[in-house]
Amino acid sequence: MKNKKLIAIYTLFIVCLFAVNCLAASHGTSKPSKVGILLVAFGSSESSAQVSFENIDRNVKKAYPDLLVRWAYTSHIIRKKLAKQGKILDSPEVALSKMMDEGYTHVAVQTLHTIRGAEFDDVSRTVEAFRIMGGFQGIMLGQPLLATQEDMEKTVNAILNNIPEARKKGEAVVLMGHGTHHPSNAFYTALMFQLQLKDPYIFVGTVEGYPEIGFITEELHKRNIKKAYLIPFMSVAGDHAKNDMAGDEEDSWKSVLTKAGIECVPVLKGTAEFDDFVAIWVGHLEEPMSHFK
Ligand code: CO
Repeated sequence: MKNKKLIAIYTLFIVCLFAVNCLAASHGTSKPSKVGILLVAFGSSESSAQVSFENIDRNVKKAYPDLLVRWAYTSHIIRKKLAKQGKILDSPEVALSKMMDEGYTHVAVQTLHTIRGAEFDDVSRTVEAFRIMGGFQGIMLGQPLLATQEDMEKTVNAILNNIPEARKKGEAVVLMGHGTHHPSNAFYTALMFQLQLKDPYIFVGTVEGYPEIGFITEELHKRNIKKAYLIPFMSVAGDHAKNDMAGDEEDSWKSVLTKAGIECVPVLKGTAEFDDFVAIWVGHLEEPMSHFK
């Protein structure tokens, strides 16, 4: 009787051990990890924007030389436009599905957005959906350029470090942010406040939010500013920079300010062309990566 009981307990023990082993195997803990990075941008069909993407790509690969780096564009219109030119770019959803299919175990998704606006929220929902689906052992999203106060300070320094050298005292720098109806639009005025603590002649306006160019023009007038450098505060110098900022149309920032008696010098460079900004985005990959170790 005692012997029988012992055998039963022993058998149960073996069965349990086997089950735990099977469970572990089915969850893939014994599978070697395959970690990838998915960089997500709104996208641009302008060739002037490619230099920004190339710079980010180069810097991410330098920071993570052993990992595969993929790209996805969120804009359907841009993807369609590029497809007509033979350039196929995936949406974040398709890119993640492919990575899932190819056996990636961990994916760090890093967006190249400036603020946590509506597009960032969309990517965030996609990442969450893949997490719930359970296709990866780990999937995490990195923060955009401006997420914390530390980012704000780094961004202020990045802007100050990259002002054209030709700028003289009394001349303004007017940054063009994208702007949005999303509550995160407040980041632009917060940035302007912190910039002006260091340099009162730097202004931040937006194309699609607050502050608008009309407000900036008044502010320049109040200070009797006669010349301004116009610089995009977007990762790429794409359509907004070329047309809304530096274009010849009547409502471009260049036209509005010139009409108001302010000489304009447009600088067609996106923030991602400068390593100071790129370092902030690349730095945001550290958080997801720390969870994959
Ligand atoms: Co836009």
